[in-house]
Amino acid sequence: MNEPMKNEIKNAPIGVFDSGIGGLTVVKELIKSLPGEDIIYLGDTARVPYGTKSGRTIIAYSHSNTEFLISKGIKLLVVACNTASSVSLPSLKNEFDIPVIGVIEPGARKAASVTKTGKIGVIGTPSTINSSAYKQAIENINSEIEVFSKACPLFVPLADEGWTEGEITERIAEQYLNPIKDTGIDVLVLGCTHYPLLKQTIRKVMGNQITLVDSAQETASQIKDILSKENLLNKNNSQSKREFYLTDISDTFLSVAGRFLGEKIAKIEMVDIVGTTTRPSL
Ligand code: DGL
Repeated sequence: MNEPMKNEIKNAPIGVFDSGIGGLTVVKELIKSLPGEDIIYLGDTARVPYGTKSGRTIIAYSHSNTEFLISKGIKLLVVACNTASSVSLPSLKNEFDIPVIGVIEPGARKAASVTKTGKIGVIGTPSTINSSAYKQAIENINSEIEVFSKACPLFVPLADEGWTEGEITERIAEQYLNPIKDTGIDVLVLGCTHYPLLKQTIRKVMGNQITLVDSAQETASQIKDILSKENLLNKNNSQSKREFYLTDISDTFLSVAGRFLGEKIAKIEMVDIVGTTTRPSL
């Protein structure tokens, strides 16, 4: 590749998509690790949640999200949604000609490297857990590791509502987590975009001796490694830009989005990638 072409790729933005606004937890980590990179975020708020949908539907949605981001000239795609990563990564890698990074592999790798008991817990949406993607990724790294998985569907609406701590949230967390706590795991993978917001409650229930692996953090650090190895880091960018697109905008999304990103979002644009067939005619 000639030098001007390489520079053009270096200066291109990183594209990130999620089923909604939860993926902003991944953007937050990307900004920390790679402050010089431009980021374009697409949250598919019109079709959220993905976590309870079938694989076929999740793959179709993931493809349309990717097409939109590629049309924006991204150099690398991050599938921030654990559910979409679990189900659609092979198909996206197959179909599209840019590097595609999901959140499963980085989380699995970190968990496998820190466990001492050889027992790892994984929590996520029902679709993520049913796909066994984390279990397979961990077992591919080390087949002797035992994986205990648990779907925690109520964690998503709790995080959306801002109920990240308190009596009710703790009781729900105990209900979900006590069975895997009793298995002797020493590492728990937070396999959903929303779960980093519930970290304090999860830590309280699981105890201090359990290592919590945040897939968002691990993914950001893997992307940094990939871009620097490929010499594709955007080094001369002192004023990095971020663009945020949602497929549906409501007041709720706007107020919750800032909480997930950890800062106020100046501007969000709505984009219609959903198509007329999936929308009722008004
Ligand atoms: N973003 C999803 C995930 O990480 C959670 C929300 C949803 O179900 O769409 O699995």
